[in-house]
Order: sequence, then structure tokens, then C-alpha cells
Amino acid sequence: MADNSSRAGTTYAATEVIEYLHRTHTAHDAALQRAFDSPGHNDMPAIQVGTAEGKTLLLLLQMIGAKKVVEVGTLAGYSTIQMARGLPEDGHVWSVEFDAKHARVARENFAAAGLSSRITVLEGPGADVLPTLDAQGPFDAVFIDADKANYDIYGRWAAKNVRKGGLLLGDNAFFFGKLLEDSAPAAAMRRFHEEARAAFDTVCVPTPDGLLLGIKK
Ligand SMILES: C[S@@+](CC[C@H](N)C(=O)[O-])C[C@H]1O[C@@H](n2cnc3c(N)ncnc32)[C@H](O)[C@@H]1O
Repeated sequence: MADNSSRAGTTYAATEVIEYLHRTHTAHDAALQRAFDSPGHNDMPAIQVGTAEGKTLLLLLQMIGAKKVVEVGTLAGYSTIQMARGLPEDGHVWSVEFDAKHARVARENFAAAGLSSRITVLEGPGADVLPTLDAQGPFDAVFIDADKANYDIYGRWAAKNVRKGGLLLGDNAFFFGKLLEDSAPAAAMRRFHEEARAAFDTVCVPTPDGLLLGIKK
């Protein structure tokens, strides 16, 4: 089997197949490419979602007619732009980011994408910032893609603040393959899975590192 890429989210497709699928289904315009390339150009980790996952987020939000979305973990704003494009004109994404430089680069990318009015970046640790958003809820979807050790906290907040029929989305739900390890972050990720299952109807989609997807009961 040829080497695999994280782009298309399948472990069975060779690189050429993944590139074909990307060209066919998820090709970037200039604004998306800018955000996707941004971490590499700004000395930031290139840990954004893959192109297929980004488009999946957009389509899932469109499917439920989402208007109000919260993201934890902005980085350079690639996933944020994908999600904002899944919302109507009066929709909004609140994206929480701990790192001031990441927040600045993301804001530049939102301006370049013409999406500044539809996205608010809130700077600070997710556990502190999320409670400040309670009054804006209930939300149609929460996408968690930040520090793994706090996924249980973010998931609990989502369970309280997502409307019935709304979505919980959690990237890196396999915890880089370490989900069953005996460590505090792995235990937090397992709590995230188990508590999510109680409040949402859930599945863990086998993307390269797992995408927990739930619909609020
Ligand atoms: C995987 S990246 C997010 C990628 C982004 N969602 C995308 O796909 O384009 C994780 C981000 O979470 C941020 N982060 C880490 N710990 C955080 C915390 N406690 N609160 C908020 N953001 C945090 C990191 O600085 C980083 O920018």
C-alpha cells in the first residue's frame, strides 16, 4: 500500500487517489488556501484539520441549518472559514484561541476571506472563555479542536449549550492512537467520549485521528 495522507481521511487510499479526491471535492479557493498554508508561513504548527474534514464541517452545518457555532482552537482559522461558509449571511462563529499570535494570524485570514463580520475570535483558555458565551446560546454546533486534556470540560459545556438536534464535533477523538493509555489526558478524552454519549446520539467517525460526531438528544 502506498503511503497515506491525512487529507482525505481514509487509510486505504494511496496519495494519488487522495489528491484526486481533493481536486474533485474539496479544492481550495485563494482564501482557503491562504488559511491552510498560513501555519507554515508564520512559524506555527501545521495542525489544522484535513481538507476533507474541513469540508465535512461545512456540509454538516449546512445540513442542520446552523446559524450559531462555537469553535475551541482557532489556529490560523482554516476550519473556522470552512464552518463560517456553511452558515447563512446572519450566521456567526465564535472561535476561542489561547495563543495571541494564532488569533492575530486568524483574524488576518478572516479579513482576506471577507468573513470578519461573521467570525469573532475570543482570546484566552477555552475553560475560562466558554462560560462567557452562555448568554449567546443555545448554539447549533460546537467544534472542539484544542488542548486534549480539557476535552471533557469542553464537552460538558457543549452538552449544556447546544440546542436539541444541534451538533457536537470533536477532532482528534482517537487521541493520536493513545486513547486507551493510562494517562490523565487520555482519561479526559475517554470521559469526553462517554459523557458525550449520554447527552448526544454519537458516533466516532474514523478520520485519520477520529472525529466524534453527536446530535443533541
Ligand atoms: C489543532 S489547532 C486548531 C486547528 C483549527 N481548528 C483548524 O483546523 O484550522 C489547536 C489550537 O488550539 C489552541 N489551544 C491550545 N490550548 C488551548 C486552550 N486551553 N484554549 C484555547 N485554545 C487552545 C492552540 O493554540 C491551537 O491554535
